[in-house]
Amino acid sequence: MKVAVVGATGMVGTVMLKVLAERNFPVTELIPVASARSAGKQLEYKGKNYTVVTLEDAVKMNADVALFSAGGDTSLEWAPKFAAAGTTVVDNSSAWRMDPTKKLVVPEINGDVLTAEDKIIANPNCSTIQLVMALAPLHKKYKMKRLIISTYQSVSGTGVAAVRQLENEQNGITDGEMAYNYPINRNAIPHCDVFMENGYTKEEMKLVKEPKKILGDDSFAVTATAVRIPTAGGHSEAVNVEFANDFDLAEVRAILEATPGVIVQDDLDNNIYPMPALAHDKDEVFVGRIRRDESLPNTLNMWIVADNLRKGAATNTVQIAEYLLAQGLLPA
Ligand SMILES: NC(=O)c1ccc[n+]([C@@H]2O[C@H](COP(=O)([O-])OP(=O)(O)OC[C@H]3O[C@@H](n4cnc5c(N)ncnc54)[C@H](OP(=O)(O)O)[C@@H]3O)[C@@H](O)[C@H]2O)c1
Repeated sequence: MKVAVVGATGMVGTVMLKVLAERNFPVTELIPVASARSAGKQLEYKGKNYTVVTLEDAVKMNADVALFSAGGDTSLEWAPKFAAAGTTVVDNSSAWRMDPTKKLVVPEINGDVLTAEDKIIANPNCSTIQLVMALAPLHKKYKMKRLIISTYQSVSGTGVAAVRQLENEQNGITDGEMAYNYPINRNAIPHCDVFMENGYTKEEMKLVKEPKKILGDDSFAVTATAVRIPTAGGHSEAVNVEFANDFDLAEVRAILEATPGVIVQDDLDNNIYPMPALAHDKDEVFVGRIRRDESLPNTLNMWIVADNLRKGAATNTVQIAEYLLAQGLLPA
């Protein structure tokens, strides 16, 4: 397959190249794409060097698949141009996620909604993916009524500039570029993405809306608070979920343990619980601190952690491409 990676020099794009190589995606020609600033730069993929090209050049190269992670504006403008050129686009930005004509996909959950007619497919937000991976099987069994989510998100979720800001601050460099309004080292910033008219951030509203679209069910209520913390990589979520039906804790654990892509780390006697440091560079979603909310019937508390650059972004995108390929949904 001729594969374009748009945003190949970025945080997600770099991991995308790594994941494509690791999973042996059948790449016959790689087209790394970034802004004009990076055009001409060399990127290595499987021991071979490739030259970074601009979007203008890449669109004419008629890739079979383009994996986009170059921001919403780039996707809004360029994904339709790639699609018109016959390329199937899997997009990591928020540009198309809530567009009713586009599918929002986590392959393990709703890959079956994809058809050969889908030319622009949206990859959900990183915090959403790890959330639905853990909740989908529980929703199926006990039916969710209400979700309360608090996130603890790493700086890699913002991109290379934010990782640089944290590193600069940790190294005592005080005049470096700022990705956030405030220092992030030794801090917690309750502000992920931009504020909206209702007082929530866009990140919080993604957590409200995207799970309903992926699960194909808008009968449950969701509220969220998203917080940026000085962790280099890996997002964590404290999740309180009220179900319509009662559950048995041992059965909840058994369901999660049997869910492909989910790993239960919940052994209090040995201080075992999910943490970003343990999830680093892993494709699975880790769940622990599974316990009954004793203040409300049929309600569960849990702690969900994943590497935001892997299952939260690159891995899920590559899995969508793999699914399309396996189902014969890409142009011959
Ligand atoms: N980080 C995460 O955990 C995460 C998770 C899910 C989704 N996403 C989404 O993925 C996208 C990229 O995020 P990131 O964290 O990888 O950001 P990043 O590290 O800042 O990288 C941005 C990438 O986009 C390229 N780019 C920027 N403007 C461009 C333009 N006008 N034309 C062509 N290429 C352009 C950059 O190229 P240059 O190097 O040439 O500037 C770079 O390759 C965003 O839409 C983000 O919302 C991120």
